[in-house]
Amino acid sequence: MAVKSDAFVFFGATGDLAYKQIFPALQDMIRHEHFDLPIIGVARSDWDLERLRERARASVREHGGLEKHACEKLCRLLQFVNGDYNDPGTFARLRKQLGKAKHPLHYLAIPPSMFETVVKGLDASGCADGARVVVEKPFGRDLKSAHALNRTLHRIFPEDAIFRIDHYLGKEAVQNLLYFRFANTFLEPVWNRTYIENVQITMAEAFGVQGRGSFYEEVGALRDVIQNHMLQVLVLLAMDAPTGRDAESVRSEKLRLLRAIRPLDPEEVVRGQFAGYRSEPGVARNSQMETFAALRLHIDTWRWAGVPFYIRAGKEMPVTCTEVLVTLKRPPLAVFDHVKREDANFFRFRLSPDVVISAGARVKKPGEAMRGEEVELVARSQPRRVRPPYSRLLGDALRGDAELFGRDDSIEAAWRIIDPALNDAEKVSTYKPRTWGPAAAARLTAGDGGWKDPVVAKPKTRTSKK
Ligand code: BG6
Repeated sequence: MAVKSDAFVFFGATGDLAYKQIFPALQDMIRHEHFDLPIIGVARSDWDLERLRERARASVREHGGLEKHACEKLCRLLQFVNGDYNDPGTFARLRKQLGKAKHPLHYLAIPPSMFETVVKGLDASGCADGARVVVEKPFGRDLKSAHALNRTLHRIFPEDAIFRIDHYLGKEAVQNLLYFRFANTFLEPVWNRTYIENVQITMAEAFGVQGRGSFYEEVGALRDVIQNHMLQVLVLLAMDAPTGRDAESVRSEKLRLLRAIRPLDPEEVVRGQFAGYRSEPGVARNSQMETFAALRLHIDTWRWAGVPFYIRAGKEMPVTCTEVLVTLKRPPLAVFDHVKREDANFFRFRLSPDVVISAGARVKKPGEAMRGEEVELVARSQPRRVRPPYSRLLGDALRGDAELFGRDDSIEAAWRIIDPALNDAEKVSTYKPRTWGPAAAARLTAGDGGWKDPVVAKPKTRTSKK
């Protein structure tokens, strides 16, 4: 049995990620899992503990709702270490604050450029002894830097103490991709090149970079969401069934699939930038960073040869929605000749904002004519997410369960796919905010009937009675 961590340390305590995800996750763990460990926030700022507690309260109020008792307990458990990550004194104070804790978990919720400095500081101060480390995405900037970061981490932590987090893997809807595929028998016979025409994954966000301009300038869409979130979704859709239920069987099967994906051909990538991005604080006036990317991928396996996998992700899209559409081939003969290409059967996995698993089929309309209509058979439809994904993942990391975290080899395999598209000399194409990206993206799917834009119902507005 893996030992349980006995303190939770998070670097970047005053930052955006802590505000949006970590405090709500901690409150959730306190509420549902009797979480009762010291929580030590670390950051360089002129804040004191009281201000950090105020931040925690504001965070849970805005992201998920304040639960009085759990939030009070969170504030009681909270401690604060203020200091520069380059200063050994910061880590000496952290060691002191850790007191008797022998197996702390250190979560690096900080920009990737700071990872190395912090792990070296942890090592030199003794804070890394017996500890685990959770590293945020993107893990490195490309294959070379990811490899170097793995080497640095391995000098200090064994692989089973390193947790490379990707919060998509903590989402219920994402886990359901794997469950739905392998807990049923009806999917597997059609889940291959004989029946599947193409797969599209769209991650659309109807907002910009929300004040994270300087972070975004370091990453762009390819590193921010495609190398990690989108490839992970693709892996769950396309991998073979693991041969065992243990974490390593699942992770090894994922690796096998990643290794079978052909590295991107820059000709099959379209990068876009929304008009107005360059006026964001922290963004270069002549920035070539992409806020949208669309790509076509190929998986060289017996199961998937010849089936295109399309991915697109972007900011300032018309809707906020992440959805997978698996389109099946049409029947071999057009018995009912009005059945068109667009009428093919499909499977839809909507991951957010609501959760949907459904299958598109055709049925005959009542009447004399053999005319049909499309129906969607819904297996699951939930209005929104159940629990914050970070709560699930941080809970797993505290227990030492690595199944939902990236392994060194699979992170590098994912970079190997994306690498050829990074540092593309071709200029980004500009697109108008609240559109589906640059016109050039249409070229990728033209031979496959175009992109299938997710349709999101507008929330009903209440009309007040007079
Ligand atoms: C983060 C990215 O990892 O995922 C953000 O850095 C993105 O740019 C976010 O907005 C999307 O996550 P979710 O859970 O809201 O779909």
